[in-house]
Amino acid sequence: MIISDINHAVNLLKNGAVVAIPTETVYGLAADSTQIEAVKQIFALKRRPQTNPLILHFASKDAAFAQVTEVPEAAQKLADQFWPGPLTLVLPKKSHISNVITANQDTVAIRVPAHSITQQLLCQFPNGLVAPSANKYMQTSTTTALDVHKQFDNEHLSVLDGGSCEKGLESTIVAFKDGNPVVLRYGAITVAQIKDALNREVLQNIPMQTVVPGMHKKHYAPKATLIVTETPEIVLRELRGKTVGYIGTDSNAVSLATEVFIYHSNNLDVLATHLYRLFHQYDSKNYEYIVVEKPSNDGLGQTINDRLKRAAVKL
Ligand code: TXA
Ligand code: MG
Repeated sequence: MIISDINHAVNLLKNGAVVAIPTETVYGLAADSTQIEAVKQIFALKRRPQTNPLILHFASKDAAFAQVTEVPEAAQKLADQFWPGPLTLVLPKKSHISNVITANQDTVAIRVPAHSITQQLLCQFPNGLVAPSANKYMQTSTTTALDVHKQFDNEHLSVLDGGSCEKGLESTIVAFKDGNPVVLRYGAITVAQIKDALNREVLQNIPMQTVVPGMHKKHYAPKATLIVTETPEIVLRELRGKTVGYIGTDSNAVSLATEVFIYHSNNLDVLATHLYRLFHQYDSKNYEYIVVEKPSNDGLGQTINDRLKRAAVKL
């Protein structure tokens, strides 16, 4: 059920229910972090292995840092610059945090989201809400209340409506190795923004724990066959006669695909905001193919290409 009353969502969460909540990145499947049965229910709902830890969300930086035993200078700087916002920090956890949340790791992922509804919600939960992205394991993340509702149609999930997510891609996850920042997952904040904030190089994609975020080979996948290409026109001509949803910059696609989303080539923010929503939209129409023109790898393009690569993997 889609709901819009924040107090109703607070009551449900306090009573141990899982509630889908909006954030500026994607929707999350939230539970009160102190109610472990509710936290376990998230894994069941998502069909996610319990070895994959959850992010804890807080209303403020102070509440978030109260969960960890140390805050390296670089983490402090990043939090000052990007919170509230689409940044997740992985830091050594305090002992009160359940191993169910952290999947037995000695670190915890924390974030302060920038979404007014979720901020109001989080003020009622000083110990935080856990929230993985609101999608079934390996499927496309959700950026509208309706897409969450459809994905969890059979589970009677309450979805707090906060409109469309502004960023449309998950948070950037940064861990620290001897105080040095390591980007574990590309996200809505670019690597260049992290480097600029710290005025130094950052390590990227270094596996440093048993779990590496979002690094499953297959992830974010739509139901349609996804084709990512630098030559969309050629591909679309080859797919003549098939039902195809297109996402890219080439306006010639209008006459070649069943449905198109055309954006201006240097506006990757727009692509990021709409990508997951379009996957759901095209899937809801049962198109056989989704063709995405591969964006340049600059800035947000790095994150988008990371998601496209995983979403296109066939198992
Ligand atoms: O934007 C986001 O981050 C969204 C919204 C809802 O906040 N959340 C999200 O959660 O993307 P999820 O669970 O779909 O992805 C979080 C990733 C997982 O791949 C998990 O393995 C990783 O974060 N993670 C969580 N705790 C970790 C830890 N202690 N060390 C390393 N990775 C961790
Ligand atoms: Mg996810």
